[in-house]
Amino acid sequence: MIKTEDWTFNGENTRDYTHIYHDYPARMIPQIPRKILSMLNLNKGILFDPYCGTGSSLVEGLLLSLDVVGTDINPLAQLIAKAKTNYSMDPKQIRKAIDDFIYFSVYPNLTPAIPNVKNISFWFKEDVIESLGMILAYLQKIENENIKIFFSVAFSETVRLSSNTRRGEFKLFRYNKQYLSNFNPDPFKIMAEKLEKNYLGYLAFKRHMDLLEYRPKADIYSFNSVKDIPNEFIPSNYADIVITSPPYGDSHTTVAYGQYSRLSIEWLSLSNSSEDVDKTSMGGSRAPQIIKFECSPLDLAIEEIGSKNEKRAKEVVSFYIDLRQSIKNVSKIVKQNGYVCYIVADRTVSEVMLPTSEAIKCFFNDEGFQEFGTYLRNIPNKRMPMLNSPTNVSGNKSKTMTKEFIIIMKKIS
Ligand SMILES: C[S@@+](CC[C@H](N)C(=O)[O-])C[C@H]1O[C@@H](n2cnc3c(N)ncnc32)[C@H](O)[C@@H]1O
Repeated sequence: MIKTEDWTFNGENTRDYTHIYHDYPARMIPQIPRKILSMLNLNKGILFDPYCGTGSSLVEGLLLSLDVVGTDINPLAQLIAKAKTNYSMDPKQIRKAIDDFIYFSVYPNLTPAIPNVKNISFWFKEDVIESLGMILAYLQKIENENIKIFFSVAFSETVRLSSNTRRGEFKLFRYNKQYLSNFNPDPFKIMAEKLEKNYLGYLAFKRHMDLLEYRPKADIYSFNSVKDIPNEFIPSNYADIVITSPPYGDSHTTVAYGQYSRLSIEWLSLSNSSEDVDKTSMGGSRAPQIIKFECSPLDLAIEEIGSKNEKRAKEVVSFYIDLRQSIKNVSKIVKQNGYVCYIVADRTVSEVMLPTSEAIKCFFNDEGFQEFGTYLRNIPNKRMPMLNSPTNVSGNKSKTMTKEFIIIMKKIS
């Protein structure tokens, strides 16, 4: 049953603490895990996020003294989540590192380190490549690993903001020639400004964390939640709560996290390739046949899609097979009487609404969970989660996802 309560958080600051560090498609606003944790009165134990992205729910867990564990297949997301959950650095050390960088940026005197970035001249202007290469050379000389990660996250944003890619798209699209003729970004300035903003976010986070009696820990892994999650790292009956936002659909037709992250992944030489991220993302391969999930709202929707377009129906089936398998894996990790909270939107395929929210409830019911409550949230402004690009054509978006569900289930058996 859907509960009527306002979860819109219209006008609230969604970038406080380390949430300011880096943008990400379909980023979870911190107010959601904050409200869930306070509603369930959780202020100790373990929080797990099997699709942690940039670690928004992990940061909120830490703020309440919970130990947190996250996993994501995207190496850029892992890097950002590591940075956002780290509160071990001395602010004076970061301040000095930023001041040194600003000094360097006045007379940059390093040979640019330019990695292998596919079609680099298409995505960046020549002078931008030179400046980014110098910043990267500077970054490579930073010895302190934590400061290096802090700088790498700011560098990733600098790469994105100084590239020729259009803002507000899921995938990589280049600005047109006319726009580019007047586009002259200064990577040094962008980097310095980003470092300053992130520093303020860090200060607020650090101040809060230093007041806690218990110093919670954060672990970020690269496990694929659809495959078996290694027991030696994340044991069974381990987590008190899961708060997560899984992908809304396969990466071809919804958010291509790999493509979004590609330029940063290549500039920073992060291990997995961006193509791997999209291929291994949920629903990355097409199912050979249409199957039944024994969840009638889902089965009916798939049948209707199949009657219009069999190929699309098989893609949809593949996504739900992966979602169901990951829910099996996640269920094992949750303690008895523990909670799972999934934040998800229902999307439309071939003009049929896919009831992902209902599917999640069915799959958790099968694993011994009972519904604790479901809340409906209006997404207040035109942010990325509600823009769906069904045809992969730039700018061709349908506004199907203006509402999302916050589904809370409790493990009974
Ligand atoms: C909606 S985003 C999560 C955003 C996150 N809540 C935040 O605030 O940044 C979904 C995430 O799932 C990750 N993902 C997709 N398939 C995955 C899989 N099989 N295992 C683990 N992570 C996966 C994507 O890389 C993406 O970061």
